[in-house]
Amino acid sequence: MHADEAVPPGKAKAMEAFAGLAHEPGVAKPDPILVADNVVRRFGGLTAVNVSHLEIQRGSITALIGPNGAGKTTFFNQLTGFDTADSGEWRFNGKRMNGLPAYKIARAGMVRTFQLTKALSKLTVMENMRLGAQQQSGENFFTALFPFLWREQEEQITERAEELLQRFKLDAKRDEFAGSLSGGQRKLLEMARALMVKPELIMLDEPMAGVNPALTQSLLGHVKDLREQGLTVLFVEHDMDMVHDISDWVVVMAQGAVIAEGPPDEIMSDERVVDAYLGAHHDAPLSAEEAEKQLAEAEAELEAAATADSTARKEPGDE
Ligand SMILES: Nc1ncnc2c1ncn2[C@@H]1O[C@H](COP(=O)(O)OP(=O)(O)OP(=O)(O)O)[C@@H](O)[C@H]1O
Ligand SMILES: [Mg+2]
Repeated sequence: MHADEAVPPGKAKAMEAFAGLAHEPGVAKPDPILVADNVVRRFGGLTAVNVSHLEIQRGSITALIGPNGAGKTTFFNQLTGFDTADSGEWRFNGKRMNGLPAYKIARAGMVRTFQLTKALSKLTVMENMRLGAQQQSGENFFTALFPFLWREQEEQITERAEELLQRFKLDAKRDEFAGSLSGGQRKLLEMARALMVKPELIMLDEPMAGVNPALTQSLLGHVKDLREQGLTVLFVEHDMDMVHDISDWVVVMAQGAVIAEGPPDEIMSDERVVDAYLGAHHDAPLSAEEAEKQLAEAEAELEAAATADSTARKEPGDE
């Protein structure tokens, strides 16, 4: 067999798109699905995010790396409407997303997962999946008026959830509480739940954190599959083996700004990148108390999103 026949078509296409691009921060991509300009988020005197220009190539797997506190999660929060930027504009498929709430951004096809998994532990796996569809896509005004449309939608949601649970090998866990799953299975559940709305761009915040080695390959395989299905993946990760293994392109953040962009091999030997990481990165484990607090915050945020969504559904003129 010819060597390059082994490269799956999605990956080949992504590699072609990046070939010949300048390896510099903010470089224009041939077909960007997401374009961000001057995104700034300050916390008091600290500028957590200050991204002047960034484009994410459609159909690729792009890694966003950088030391702890670089602003990666905060940047994700701005882009996906979970926090309000001080300034900035970003377009998804050419449509402005800045200023929109999270559920509308998700509905447009741009979803994210969280560094700390947000699977609701007291709901079953299936209930989590259904919530994913409800929360991120919402029901539109007409389906609320016509029960037969609603039932049809319910059936479609169940069907899609079953399909995804099978794909992620969680179907046997369908009726178990999400709280009983392992860390890795929760990561899989969160990815499956994000896919309920058939997104075009999926943003994963540290998908490998807390995943045991037995599930690592399976998770990597799922992420690569997403690219083969035509999805665009943007992921934050500290595990450089994973970054090297799956990404077509790497973006490096330090102190809120994009300091380098390029192919994985080159980026990992880049002096600025090594400098940014030196002494800066540590995988400090959370204390039980911190983890509990962050989880409580995450669940409160999810509830707030659900409330915002049901309020929004009462305003038919809203869309
Ligand atoms: N709600 C907040 N209030 C105040 N400061 C914050 C808040 N959220 C984040 N920060 C600060 O903003 C900076 C960027 O944090 P962020 O969590 O985005 O980093 P990160 O790159 O995701 O780091 P890690 O790799 O550790 O997850 C940090 O200095 C952090 O302390
Ligand atoms: Mg983070």
